[in-house]
Amino acid sequence: MTTVDAAPKGAKDPELTSGVAQYLAPVVIDLTALALEGKQAHWHVRGNNFIAVHELLDTLVDHARAGLDQAAERIAALGLPLDARTATVAKKTSVPSVREGFQQSDLLLADIVTAIDAVLVTLRAAMEGLGELDPVSEDIVIGITDQIELDRWFLFSHIAE
Ligand SMILES: [Fe+2]
Repeated sequence: MTTVDAAPKGAKDPELTSGVAQYLAPVVIDLTALALEGKQAHWHVRGNNFIAVHELLDTLVDHARAGLDQAAERIAALGLPLDARTATVAKKTSVPSVREGFQQSDLLLADIVTAIDAVLVTLRAAMEGLGELDPVSEDIVIGITDQIELDRWFLFSHIAE
């Protein structure tokens, strides 16, 4: 049995660590849902700019997965557990699903940008809350937001006037 704490020194304040988890858990959950929706769109996109959109959607999925892993591991690094099981993600995510089946790229792009925007609301809320609590976690969320906003631009530009 180890005698050292799970939480790192300086981050041991239970109020701080549970506060961090409170903001990071929705980030993990929403990015998990976005990764699923991104794959769904990747497999079902048809029509204009097929190959570009198909590949960009995979890039978005890669970034969502990298981001959720970073956020989840930050929670774990602070010594806290996380519930990111399938049922929990389905119940708690704020990310709307893309439409079902094969779809023209403009429709699926509008859906995936809407899904991204839901994640960005969660990321911005996390950024705001974490600013006071833990700059390390805030920094992680800033990096994820930067990447997801860039991906949003790349996708949105296909349907922008
Ligand atoms: Fe693929």
